[in-house]
Amino acid sequence: MKKKQVSNYSFKKALSKFATGITIITINSKNEFIGKTVNSFASLSLNPPLVLFSLDKKSSSLKKFLESKYIGINILSKKQKNISQYFSNKKETWGDTNFILSKENIPLIKNSVVNLSCKTFKKLPNGDHVIFICKVVSIKIDKSLKPLIYLNNKYY
Ligand SMILES: Cc1cc2nc3c(=O)[nH]c(=O)nc-3n(C[C@H](O)[C@H](O)[C@H](O)COP(=O)(O)O)c2cc1C
Repeated sequence: MKKKQVSNYSFKKALSKFATGITIITINSKNEFIGKTVNSFASLSLNPPLVLFSLDKKSSSLKKFLESKYIGINILSKKQKNISQYFSNKKETWGDTNFILSKENIPLIKNSVVNLSCKTFKKLPNGDHVIFICKVVSIKIDKSLKPLIYLNNKYY
């Protein structure tokens, strides 16, 4: 077998030097509310307004995300580190996370810097992840809050 030119270690190390925000992507799967901590979120297009994120093919909730017509994207504030930790846990629970239901019936996390309600547009399997491309259908911004930052495997 051909030797891998880039080790998992150096790939992860290099990409940990890229500062990101933290989002929780949320769905309502037949009245089961599911959230995942995701920092692969990015802006894709202005017209139409598209965003993307990628989800591990091994994720226990991948099937439910693939089936969802609507997805919430919640950009966490500096005060919501605990929420990032809840939703990156295998045995994810909502803990004390407060949310409201959007018009599309998806849970949107209260006190986030931004809540985006999105309609799934395309799902593209690539490598060990699936890229979800979503069209933003509504936006809520809290200008008084500062976003949580993730860099070098630490929160700031
Ligand atoms: C800071 C941070 C960012 C993450 N970003 C992603 C991501 O972009 N995509 C992803 O599939 N998982 C991501 N994860 C992992 C998931 O939050 C979660 O731990 C994993 O999906 C758990 O497995 P499960 O989906 O089988 O419950 C991230 C975790 C952390 C702590």
